[in-house]
Amino acid sequence: MTVNAPGQRVLIGAERALARCDELARITSLEGGIERVNLSTEHKIANALVSAWMHEAGLDTWQDAGGNQCGRLEGREPGLPALVLGSHLDTVTDAGAYDGMLGVMLAIEVVDRIRSSGRELPFALEVVGFTDEEGTRFGTALLGSRAFAGTWDDSWWQLADRKGVTLRDAARAFGLDPDGIRSAARRSEDLVGYLETHIEQGPLLLDAGKPLAAVSGIAGARRLALTVTGHAGHAGGTPYDRRRDALVGASEIIVEIERIARRTGTVATVGRVRAFPGGVNVVPGVARFSLDLRARSDAERDAAFEEIEVFALEVCDRRGLAWLAEEFYRADAVTCSPTLKNAVEQGIRSTGDDDPTTLWSRAGHDGMAVAAVTEFAMLFLRCGNDGVSHHPDETVTRADVVAALDAFTGAVLAVAESRR
Ligand code: GLV
Ligand code: MN
Ligand code: MN
Repeated sequence: MTVNAPGQRVLIGAERALARCDELARITSLEGGIERVNLSTEHKIANALVSAWMHEAGLDTWQDAGGNQCGRLEGREPGLPALVLGSHLDTVTDAGAYDGMLGVMLAIEVVDRIRSSGRELPFALEVVGFTDEEGTRFGTALLGSRAFAGTWDDSWWQLADRKGVTLRDAARAFGLDPDGIRSAARRSEDLVGYLETHIEQGPLLLDAGKPLAAVSGIAGARRLALTVTGHAGHAGGTPYDRRRDALVGASEIIVEIERIARRTGTVATVGRVRAFPGGVNVVPGVARFSLDLRARSDAERDAAFEEIEVFALEVCDRRGLAWLAEEFYRADAVTCSPTLKNAVEQGIRSTGDDDPTTLWSRAGHDGMAVAAVTEFAMLFLRCGNDGVSHHPDETVTRADVVAALDAFTGAVLAVAESRR
């Protein structure tokens, strides 16, 4: 029997991956919804559960110094460099059940299929369930995969969550040793590469009528905290020509941000807005809002931000306001390795699609960080429900998960063929 033979095994694997996503969805800090953030009790419970599933698939498991859940299956001899398969186990607030988790569950199934076929590979297989791809708790994303890639920045220990708990204290409370974080870092020579399967998180595959795509690269992103400062005043007594209303200024800027993004082919989102002091009868003196800006290339992303700043400064000048932009997250655009992308395409072909689609990812993924230590590629799988993601309505079909499991297995076997 070949590893990728169609039949019961792939169906069982796909069903089990989906059932496990449902089980993970129940490990949540949000009543009636899904939220599982870095270094939380839920993170600990999820890692333990995933570790047990990894064990069942034949992997030796450990949790690394960054809080990532890892497992390893040796290749045809012990100690060979590893092809790493994975995704993340953390979520946004009120998340869907598949963003990240499905990729980890499918990685476990790929290992299970290869191990039980008796086939020995010319490399070890590792599975990683990264923590903190989303950055939900501390604002800065990719902390787990950056620890893995050895690009940890000690200034991050000072980051605090909404309750004022620092990353350092949260790590200690979780049982990690902040001074040992560098032991999570992997060496390039110990790695063959990184392959990730992820839902598309958009409607392009749905529109194209295709279940799968190979990813060419991931958008560069910047996240900023923006502050417009004016002067608070009485809502009745302050005449319009004397007002320095920070929120009206911010609103003008926010509307223009969308125009600039549409015109430049970038993607910009203002997801959080707050006005201070926040009284119904007070002219807002300060407005704070977030900006998430993404583009296919860093140059396009940065040019769009320059335009936004020029416009914001003009608005502030006209309205007697001050402008402050503080960047708290940056991840540069990354390109998938042609060799590994080719393996993903071979995997897609093995499912009967002779003309694999290529997409670039507008969403961020752990590969952005892992790219610093090894080459990577990704397989995208179609989302239902108009491609909605970062929302409880996220869905996938069982048939697409079967196709993804076959293609993911096929991609790993194609890497093995290329290194025989
Ligand atoms: C992660 O999901 C991101 O792209 O924001
Ligand atoms: Mn996400
Ligand atoms: Mn994700």
